[in-house]
Amino acid sequence: MATRKIIILPDAQLRLVSAPVAALDKAVQALAEDMLETMYEAPGIGLAAIQIGVPQRLMVIDLAKKDEPKQPIVFINPEIVARSEETSSYEEGCLSIPEYYEEVTRPAAVTVRFQDLKGKAEQIDADGLLATCIQHEIDHLDGKLFIDYLSKLKRDRVIKKFTKLARRED
Ligand code: NI
Repeated sequence: MATRKIIILPDAQLRLVSAPVAALDKAVQALAEDMLETMYEAPGIGLAAIQIGVPQRLMVIDLAKKDEPKQPIVFINPEIVARSEETSSYEEGCLSIPEYYEEVTRPAAVTVRFQDLKGKAEQIDADGLLATCIQHEIDHLDGKLFIDYLSKLKRDRVIKKFTKLARRED
């Protein structure tokens, strides 16, 4: 296991649409382990493969609190098959947009289908923070970021800020 470098806004890779994971081989297993380690180290509660530069439909989530045992969930080829009409708002952040938080409104509950690392078909009915987190991470697989839900003014402002920061690091 190893931690990988997390891609930061405005890296164009964040806008790629990730391809389905074709085979659940050792490489995918290793990738999932690296993603979990990278997410725990950051620390964060969710990470999509594209955030470490791998355009595959794989994401990890762990909502366990600091003093709780780890509860990692690995989602392979996740797909939302139902959304509630009821919405909820959470202040969201993203490891690819560090230290920036804004409230986003999304469906309050979703049903997600995916495969686990053994290829077993799974389905979760999620609400609360898990529902938000699943939607946020699946958006990454489609090249979408939470700032896309903000006003153009706010979005342009944060992109500009991170573009300046990236230039400074060159
Ligand atoms: Ni994110």
